[in-house]
Amino acid sequence: MLPNDETLFDKVVNLSKRRGFVFQSAEIYGGFRSAYDYGPLGVLLLRNVKEQWWRSMVQLRHDVVGLDASILSPPAVWQASGHLANFSDPMVDCRECGARHRQDKLDDPNACPSCGKSGSLTEAREFNLMFKTHAGPMVESAAEVYLRPETAQGMFINFANVLNTSRKKPPFGIAQIGKSFRNEITPGNFVFRTREFEQMEMEFFVPPEDSDEWYRYWCGARMDWYLDLGMPEDRLRLREHDADELSHYSTGTSDVEFAFPWGWDELEGIANRTDFDLKRHAESSGTKLEYHDPASGERYVPHVIEPAAGATRTAMAFLMAAYDEEEVNDDVRTVLRLDHRLAPYKVAVLPLSKKPELIEPSNEVLGLLQPHWMCDYDQTQAIGRRYRRQDEIGTPYCVTIDFDTLEDRAVTVRDRDSMTQERVPIDGLVDHMAGRLPA
Ligand code: GAP
Repeated sequence: MLPNDETLFDKVVNLSKRRGFVFQSAEIYGGFRSAYDYGPLGVLLLRNVKEQWWRSMVQLRHDVVGLDASILSPPAVWQASGHLANFSDPMVDCRECGARHRQDKLDDPNACPSCGKSGSLTEAREFNLMFKTHAGPMVESAAEVYLRPETAQGMFINFANVLNTSRKKPPFGIAQIGKSFRNEITPGNFVFRTREFEQMEMEFFVPPEDSDEWYRYWCGARMDWYLDLGMPEDRLRLREHDADELSHYSTGTSDVEFAFPWGWDELEGIANRTDFDLKRHAESSGTKLEYHDPASGERYVPHVIEPAAGATRTAMAFLMAAYDEEEVNDDVRTVLRLDHRLAPYKVAVLPLSKKPELIEPSNEVLGLLQPHWMCDYDQTQAIGRRYRRQDEIGTPYCVTIDFDTLEDRAVTVRDRDSMTQERVPIDGLVDHMAGRLPA
């Protein structure tokens, strides 16, 4: 097991680039620091993280439905939500070197962390984090629109639409996965803080008197989700906010935190948002956003429990948690011990040699497995090196087709973690793998 030290960060960043998980955006133009592109492996890992979230939050429940709201929205939404007035960070500039920093993140509030100069920082100014653009050809204030800084507001402004069409009643939730945009003053730590990122958020609408119970429920359920997917218990914690950290509308917030190489940091926030958002949008839009119980005749504005996670940040945390190095035969083996559900490829099909007689059965094996699982195929280099390549990207199983296959119609299945190998008949291979891999 690799210690959670600074080298882990560099190793994971290097592996991400070298093996095609994450690339710096616009790299051929010198790179665009605040955005990243997900390569062939990264896109699979990220998809798997999002799919597992959707499965647990929507598919396996009867009380949560999905939504895919627009990314662009008019100022009225952000006026009502409070983002136009309050979604800002205090920013200071260095008069000496011109660097810009978040005041609340400075170790020494009097010195510039870039050039070290003392007394060079300006007074703090509030900097709104929303990206503004214009809809249509006219660059004028009437055409101003915003890129959403969170997916959550899409759920609040569609509350009545979903309530009226889904036949749900509180307690019920609306879940959404999608891109959000924040003009962060200091993006950094690889994909941890970027200006374009993906969120996985759910707004759970409950009768007001049940809100505390549901808040506790979601804190527990969300922790279990990470643990079930293989996050080590000692690298995950739930931290309840102190009263002075709470937003003015929240009666309780807890963060799921991961032990990153730089310390504990947030993966997800679970907040009791009370009836703040629905009331604000109801007042601003003039639309009633409440629940009317036809049986009791009761009307009320539901309270909201919100588990809000970052998909991109969480994918990186899973990579860091899975990264391992171990000594094997005087050599260091790098292995990503990703949960099978998260691994980009589930199986790698590897003909022992490029000889044509092995390619035909290899294609047959690939054709059998591909309808069920994401597979890689690799016929170059020595088999030992190919196993190592698959270990390094977390592929749980390698299937090798050798010359004996031509005689016995069997293949060798190698396990990523134990490195044990077993001989399995081609005709029983799909069943064999089905007992070991997610459907
Ligand atoms: N609707 C509530 C909300 O958006 P948040 O704590 O600001 O809450 C939720 O964001 C999650 O989104 C965070 O816990 C984090 O995982 C992710 N996130 C927020 N800003 C991010 C950024 N600049 N880059 C990457 N992920 C980010």
